[in-house]
Amino acid sequence: MTIHKRSGLLIVFEGTDGTGKSTQHQLLGEYLQKHHYPVISTREPTDGSFGAKIRQLYTNRTMSSPEEELKLFLDDRKQHVEKLIAPALKKGEIVLCDRYFLSTAAYQGAAGFDPETILRRNSFAPDPDLALLFQAPLQTGSERIVHGRGETLNDFEQLDTLKKVAEIFSSLNRPYIQAIDATGSIKTVHKIVLQHVLPLLETFPSSQRIKQ
Ligand code: TYD
Repeated sequence: MTIHKRSGLLIVFEGTDGTGKSTQHQLLGEYLQKHHYPVISTREPTDGSFGAKIRQLYTNRTMSSPEEELKLFLDDRKQHVEKLIAPALKKGEIVLCDRYFLSTAAYQGAAGFDPETILRRNSFAPDPDLALLFQAPLQTGSERIVHGRGETLNDFEQLDTLKKVAEIFSSLNRPYIQAIDATGSIKTVHKIVLQHVLPLLETFPSSQRIKQ
């Protein structure tokens, strides 16, 4: 994909809903801050104008066609890359992003598009240095959403859809993807996350760390 000159790191959190990726995102952010790394936490869909439109789809996906829906996710990401991700990477920061283009490949792939075509349509977006793919039985994820958060499943979270989403996630083959067994405790999964992140940090120039 597009080569962007950068000195920061891009770490993304991917997987089906309810696998605990947002909790792990937060924990890694806290860890990096504590160790004086310049870190920015962000997420997709974003809080921008396209993200707001996407959230309206949560309750009724039939409001737009599959192509319109895909375009909204791509427009949201373009804005996100231009305004936040690319400038932060250029400045040498570590960007932690909850969902990125592998989610589009998996979710809009499950809606009928070819996942590789979707990835090509994301060529404007810098490749992550590491994509942590959180995997847990779908039943566990749905139970965490319904019982843990007291929410109902939105239109992206219905079980038959999620089954397809999980299959596509597992089929994606990119050197930066690391599958994470997300069935353990929060602490256990955090340790696994660190096992993947620490080697990357060794490549991070100490001059870019925040002076105490
Ligand atoms: P989610 O991470 O659950 O966000 P929030 O915490 O704001 O609810 O993402 C919302 C849904 O959007 C999720 O079910 C997956 C879906 N999604 C896509 O379908 N395509 C994409 O490209 C992205 C980023 C998310």
